[in-house]
Amino acid sequence: MADIETLKTKYAGEIEAAADLAALDAVRVAALGKKGEVSLQMRTLGQMSVDEKKIKGPALNGLKNELAALVEARKTVLEGKALNAVLASETLDMSLPVSVKTGTLHPVMQVMEEMAVIFADQGFSVAEGPDIEDDFHNFTALNFPPGHPARDMHDTFFLKPDENGEKMVLRTHTSPVQIRTMMSQKPPIRIIVPGRTYRCDSDQTHTPMFHQVEGLVIDKTTHMGHLKGCLMDFVSSFFETDVETRFRPHHFPFTEPSAEMDVRYERVGDEIRIGQGDKWMEILGCGMVHPNVLINCGLDPDEYQGFAFGMGVDRLAMLKYGMPDLRDMFAGDGRWLEHYGFSPLLQANLATGLS
Ligand code: DAH
Repeated sequence: MADIETLKTKYAGEIEAAADLAALDAVRVAALGKKGEVSLQMRTLGQMSVDEKKIKGPALNGLKNELAALVEARKTVLEGKALNAVLASETLDMSLPVSVKTGTLHPVMQVMEEMAVIFADQGFSVAEGPDIEDDFHNFTALNFPPGHPARDMHDTFFLKPDENGEKMVLRTHTSPVQIRTMMSQKPPIRIIVPGRTYRCDSDQTHTPMFHQVEGLVIDKTTHMGHLKGCLMDFVSSFFETDVETRFRPHHFPFTEPSAEMDVRYERVGDEIRIGQGDKWMEILGCGMVHPNVLINCGLDPDEYQGFAFGMGVDRLAMLKYGMPDLRDMFAGDGRWLEHYGFSPLLQANLATGLS
């Protein structure tokens, strides 16, 4: 039987020489496994005399512990090497040109970008607010009286009431961000608010989740003429052609006077052409901010005034890019996205064209 020193030299050498984790494990089994050489020697202790056992026992235990420690140390080294090899083989060359089209920008995102670019040119900045709103910001502060049927008109999604019986809502429009902005910022204010909105409605031209862009201007001198100029300029830039518009009186609780803006259009076969023709299509709501709304936000209506507007992004995307059914927009069909999507690498801008 090999003596302890011989075993130590032999296995220490083999452990050090193991080139990978599999080889190391083979050495471990040969030495310390159930039928390993060291383990077999330990089994012979039972047949030894007491004196012999006293010497051999601790020596064999020491050998076992020493080899186990060497195996662990070598294992750490080999695992590090294995990881480095994986990292080296899995690196990506980020300098390679993109040759495969793997994803597209959703038309809604594209249109929101286009709108932001147009309004940024008019001096607007972008503001945002939460999708889950309280009744105050979504309705009350916007001059919807309590219990007013207009609250139901919005087909509101209510959340479960809290311990005080208050029900949060999924915001039915982006207008609550007007309130949040006026309450936290001093005029002059000039913002647009792109975002998701929710109403319990679904057909060819409605989805329960849809997108709006809100606009708000507050200062001391802005009037209805500015509102009209701003929106007329916007539609022509957006549709990238001269678009004739008309403003029709309307009612919104949060503006006075209120209007809807229509654009001229015609239908040629299946195609809708915006800008010309003998028909009118409503595309947005607008008006001068109601004095009650200003008061609700702590602003003095004798000092401040301004205008607001709101429009549906998805519908404008459909009109501009000729999509027949709104519901397809959110169906997540790869073929639809491939067909209607935009290159994520091209940024909309006014100098070289929006799309
Ligand atoms: N919040 C309105 C809606 O969702 C849209 C709207 C109309 C917003 C007129 C405005 C506005 O700011 O002045 O139907």
